[in-house]
Amino acid sequence: MSEINKNYLNLAQNYLFPTITKKVGEFKADNPDEEIISLGIGDVTRPLPKACISALHKAVDEMGDASSFRGYGPEQGYDFLINDIIKNDYEASGIKILPEEIFVSDGAKCDVGNVQEIFAKSCRVAISDPVYPVYLDTNIMAGREISKILCKEENNFNPAVPDFKADIIYLCSPNNPTGTVMTREDLKNWVNYARINKSVIIFDSAYKEYVRDSSLPRSIYEIEGSKEVAIEVRSFSKTAGFTGLRCAYMVVPLELKGTACAKDAISFNTLWRRRHTTKFNGVSYIVQRAAQAVFSSEGKQEIKELINYYMQNAKIITEGLQAAGFTVFGGVNAPYIWLKLPAGIKSFDFFDLLLRQARVVGTPGSGFGDGGEGYFRLTAFGSMENTLKAMERIRGLKL
Ligand code: MLT
Repeated sequence: MSEINKNYLNLAQNYLFPTITKKVGEFKADNPDEEIISLGIGDVTRPLPKACISALHKAVDEMGDASSFRGYGPEQGYDFLINDIIKNDYEASGIKILPEEIFVSDGAKCDVGNVQEIFAKSCRVAISDPVYPVYLDTNIMAGREISKILCKEENNFNPAVPDFKADIIYLCSPNNPTGTVMTREDLKNWVNYARINKSVIIFDSAYKEYVRDSSLPRSIYEIEGSKEVAIEVRSFSKTAGFTGLRCAYMVVPLELKGTACAKDAISFNTLWRRRHTTKFNGVSYIVQRAAQAVFSSEGKQEIKELINYYMQNAKIITEGLQAAGFTVFGGVNAPYIWLKLPAGIKSFDFFDLLLRQARVVGTPGSGFGDGGEGYFRLTAFGSMENTLKAMERIRGLKL
């Protein structure tokens, strides 16, 4: 028998969301006639923008014509998409990113999970608690030393710069699961820490489109000197409804360097290019054309309406929970609402209670780490009708 990667034995038995799906499935089997509302996994419910649908149709027709058919594309993404990403997501905010620094992929989850492969096993990783479980699980799989930074309510759940040296740091803003957003000052502190400690920050800004307060940063590259210390991950999933279509991108700056055997200045960009071109054959042409359409004027208008729709849900949830007596975080510049449970109620117990009494599915805070115990996450990605219905049911809860 072949020996397994024993690090896998250190993982929780299942990934968080399949665990939730299983629990809901069991409940449904026992209660087949009940209407269950899911505000659990952060999956979008609105259809794709029309601009993306038109681009998809056009691209499909091109693929059916011998003169415009395309086989393998560039692994790191087509120029048409990369150039539009740079122009709209960076140049428009005064940030200079080069085409060779962008890598288009099929999802931010894959990117944040895979990127750790270009770091040594000996790297010490710093992760917030609570946290998006992919950062944690993928580093457990790799067998790295992981240090948790407890994020507390008093600090708006922002991770404080630690008093130890971490080689890799994962930051997520707007945050999944807490829905809170790091300020420019918070990010400056982290960039400063990373420059002093020669660490690399993996900055997950998959929810950047939900930041509507212009004083809050959407990109880590808004902070001076950050290109020397940060990789940024972004996605079309929550911005444009691509959870089922799959497209994201990662920025690996040319300035970002690591070391090997005391040899300085090895480019992470070169390593990631090598990894990406070896293990990935690129996002399909038709999907990249759909992603490009997000940056058209029609696309931009539709995205704005989409985000407004979900943020209206966030408001309904926030106000509904407050009216029901809960203390609530997030939900203002983020699609996640993080509610504090009454003292003594465990988050998985609340999950069961909410499902049994209200037929509403949420995500237990402790699923995001011990630091999430006593809290619970709801998403704004449901339909408005269901969100309103869910809040009405939650108001009737008997705790
Ligand atoms: C979540 O619910 O946390 C998200 O859907 C996770 C993801 O984007 O993978």
